[in-house]
Amino acid sequence: MKKQWWHRTVGYQIYPKSFQDTNGDGIGDLQGVIRRLDKIAALGANVIWLCPVFPSPMVDNGYDVSDYMDIDPCFGSMEDMKELIAKAKEKGIRILMDLVANHSSDQHEWFQKALRDPYGKYGNYYVFREGRAGGPPNNWRSIFGGSAWEKVPGRENLYYLHLFTKQQPDLNWENPELREEICRIIREWMELGLGGFRLDAISHLKKNYDYEDLPADGPDGLCLAFDHINNVKGLSDFLLELKEKAFAPSDALTIGEYDNMKPEDVEAVIGENGSFSSVFDFSHTHHNVYYPEWNGDTLGMFNDYRDKLFEAQKVVDGRGLLCNFLENHDKNRCIDRFLAKEDRNPHSIRMLPVTNFFLPGIVFLYQGQEIGMRDFPKKSMDEYVDAPTHAEYEEFLKKGLTPEEALFRINSNSREHSRTPMQWDGSENAGFTTGTPWFAVNPNYTWLNYEAQEKDPDSLLHFYRKLVSVRRRPDLEETFIYGRLIPRLQDRSGILAYERRDERNRILVVTSALSEEMRLPLAEADATEALMNESELLLDNYETAPLFEKGELTLRPWECLVIRLGGKERGTD
Ligand code: BGC
Repeated sequence: MKKQWWHRTVGYQIYPKSFQDTNGDGIGDLQGVIRRLDKIAALGANVIWLCPVFPSPMVDNGYDVSDYMDIDPCFGSMEDMKELIAKAKEKGIRILMDLVANHSSDQHEWFQKALRDPYGKYGNYYVFREGRAGGPPNNWRSIFGGSAWEKVPGRENLYYLHLFTKQQPDLNWENPELREEICRIIREWMELGLGGFRLDAISHLKKNYDYEDLPADGPDGLCLAFDHINNVKGLSDFLLELKEKAFAPSDALTIGEYDNMKPEDVEAVIGENGSFSSVFDFSHTHHNVYYPEWNGDTLGMFNDYRDKLFEAQKVVDGRGLLCNFLENHDKNRCIDRFLAKEDRNPHSIRMLPVTNFFLPGIVFLYQGQEIGMRDFPKKSMDEYVDAPTHAEYEEFLKKGLTPEEALFRINSNSREHSRTPMQWDGSENAGFTTGTPWFAVNPNYTWLNYEAQEKDPDSLLHFYRKLVSVRRRPDLEETFIYGRLIPRLQDRSGILAYERRDERNRILVVTSALSEEMRLPLAEADATEALMNESELLLDNYETAPLFEKGELTLRPWECLVIRLGGKERGTD
């Protein structure tokens, strides 16, 4: 693999609205990010992904952009953005923005002009179609619920397409003029010194406009037509054009929100000449101990998570790098997802990030993950503000769940849990704002906050700092990025283990999701006693030394270990 600057990425994702407010309006802002840059640097991150800060009516918290070349006043100004890029650079941190190019806001001037003249220049920036039989063009369902088509106000039989909310009309990527415009926008941002972009909903750019109704997949008679709206043949032509014209000239890091990569597509997607630098690995995002399909089988779920992680790596097979993460702004907190209430303890919450942090790829942490921020279940749906969360609740009701059951489901998986304000300290509103926060702070901030953990050398925050420093240690970093991956002990329930190996190092990562001790013959991990005796313990979550003797390792409940195997055999490849 040809080496690239971004291969060393340890990223930190910021949801600006909830990160740090500096002007008392209850909404986080760019000056807030600048204020906290030291904290991000102290964690060891070298890339920040900033969720959208463009002007927006905020129907989807910024994922509905009304002007791609400015900053929303609630976040600050262009000057603030330039200051952030410059100050971050001084600390060795590059900034990624979030490119939302599958759709714009309905308030974007392009769409407003398009509404006035759907058959004119801007009409061709969007997807307008005549309705059929007195209804929409077909029965596609929007990803956020309801029909994917909205009637154009004041027109007899004309609809526009929106794969997300109706305030997010889809852009027409078939139109070369639109594509050229997006490339120009990207180039202008890159000239300001950005590191690159995270590419939102990018696998939906190409649609298969086959207007036949599809068999309904729900009681609403609609169909979530993924085959027609996701990874559709021809998508790669758009992506490659984008890369060549917009990203490649400035060597940008681009991370696609792109799921279900097939083995035959890897080269084209993240290979040396692929469309993106990397794509997120979503293998773990369907795991939640409170989903009915796991029926309380936490170990079964953990084993499945392990197998999915290894499968995803096998698909890539060293031809590119995935982006490994556990949390983002679209998922609830990982502690609440992976660990049943009774299993949450200081060992288990440290074990979780180790499961995928040392896999081949680049890595991303999400704001608050480093202090173990938690979900904040609500007493009523009124306390949720996110439109898709409400739509999901309605879907549950339609499927026959009682309001209590539906609220339970929302409380155990809403993406809004990850959007509660960052908990900086124990003062009012967790030090996030001096005003009224736009979204309620989790009351656990009185004990769960950054300041308290900074003072405590045994805190989760310090563990995360150690995690990053191990991953970035100069004599190990290349092994973690480019070394071979050898899954270990895969037939042991509750154990997720792997080795990373190159000519310099052999590093063994072992994690346990078991609540009792487990004895492992080291031979099963191909780690002989000699290798263990001369090894270096890089990271663990117990205060006392690991228990290995006479060729056996006794893993303690929820233990995780990262060990550089020593001795003569080290580094044989
Ligand atoms: C973003 C979401 C957003 C959606 C529509 C997603 O993939 O991550 O937060 O709601 O795209 O833009």
